[in-house]
Amino acid sequence: MTGSTLAPEDLGTAATGTLDEARVEAFAGRLFELYTGGMLTFMVDIGHRTGLFAAAAAGPATSAELAGRADLQERYVREWLGAMVTGGIVEHDPATGTYRLPPEHAACLTGTGSSNLAAFSRLDTHLAKHVDAVALAFREGGGVPYAAFRPEFTDVMDALGRGTFDELLVDAYLPLVPGLDARLAAGARVADVGCGTGRAMVLLAAAYPASTFIGYDLADDAVARARSEAAAAGLANARFEVRDAAGLTVERPLDVVFVFDAIHDQVDPAAVLGRIHAALAPGGTFVMVEPRVSSDLAGNLANPLAPMLYSVSTLHCLTVSLAGGGAGLGAAWGEELARSMLADAGFGDVVVHEAPGDPLNAVFVASKPGA
Ligand SMILES: C[S@@+](CC[C@H](N)C(=O)[O-])C[C@H]1O[C@@H](n2cnc3c(N)ncnc32)[C@H](O)[C@@H]1O
Repeated sequence: MTGSTLAPEDLGTAATGTLDEARVEAFAGRLFELYTGGMLTFMVDIGHRTGLFAAAAAGPATSAELAGRADLQERYVREWLGAMVTGGIVEHDPATGTYRLPPEHAACLTGTGSSNLAAFSRLDTHLAKHVDAVALAFREGGGVPYAAFRPEFTDVMDALGRGTFDELLVDAYLPLVPGLDARLAAGARVADVGCGTGRAMVLLAAAYPASTFIGYDLADDAVARARSEAAAAGLANARFEVRDAAGLTVERPLDVVFVFDAIHDQVDPAAVLGRIHAALAPGGTFVMVEPRVSSDLAGNLANPLAPMLYSVSTLHCLTVSLAGGGAGLGAAWGEELARSMLADAGFGDVVVHEAPGDPLNAVFVASKPGA
């Protein structure tokens, strides 16, 4: 070698003779498991989008029957079934030529609630489209801006969050904050910063008619969807604004601010936390849902979801922040750094809960002193 840059073939020859061949073989096998999982994820996405899981959940069927149920082309369905069967998702009975989605698998792949994990596959499909651009940013710096992920990102986030919000927001998240249900019932001013398509505010506005709700988001497509959903539900107490949270000001102080998964990807997260603190009335409550990880890589080694979190961060959360010349916290900024940044913003008293029904996230509950 003449330069400092190692080519892959240099690494291969340099290492020959010192390798534990069994370990090489095991690792090669693991790589193919990963690649297989990646491909199967795309197949899960197709099953979700096309309604094939719902069709299969209706009972055992041949590929032609399944194609008929979902109004799809049989040849594609049969190939997809090949992936599903060999991937351990669907069972096949060669004697009858039928395919069966076990009810335990259907429980994770169908339905409108938070237990339907099929929509998660869309995150992979979506982010895969940005690998080229993010890889370029590794070399050149900067990042891929939020706008490049729209409008698909809006749909993906809506699909990921809707089931959880519908099922758990009122019944499981709100009870984490003592007295919150009573405050909302009595009438409070509430905001959701980085609200996306606004599902959380729409649900709360319907549940608590005496309170007023406002959602802020940078994305006009997300805000438009939030507005039309609130209008369709006839909610006069929910509104939505396209607004950069880094410049957030309010005419009248807020009693409660929610942020769901929207601090770590900020260009200037410290400014946003400061703005939220300033916007709250004394005694106001800040509820922040963010990934449940350690700020220290070593603290995440035993977390089976950590590789996904760091990967999603690389392909989205980190890059959107760096694209704006931002802090680049990344999704794995972790509890320790979150507590420290919350304290810097004025939130000294923070209680952290596991997020109900969501192993990826934690709920940080903080109050503004001075009630
Ligand atoms: C990961 S998504 C979460 C969306 C939604 N809260 C949910 O849980 O489905 C982050 C959201 O924050 C919004 N966002 C990012 N930076 C923002 C800023 N500075 N001001 C307002 N919204 C912002 C994005 O447009 C996006 O909709």
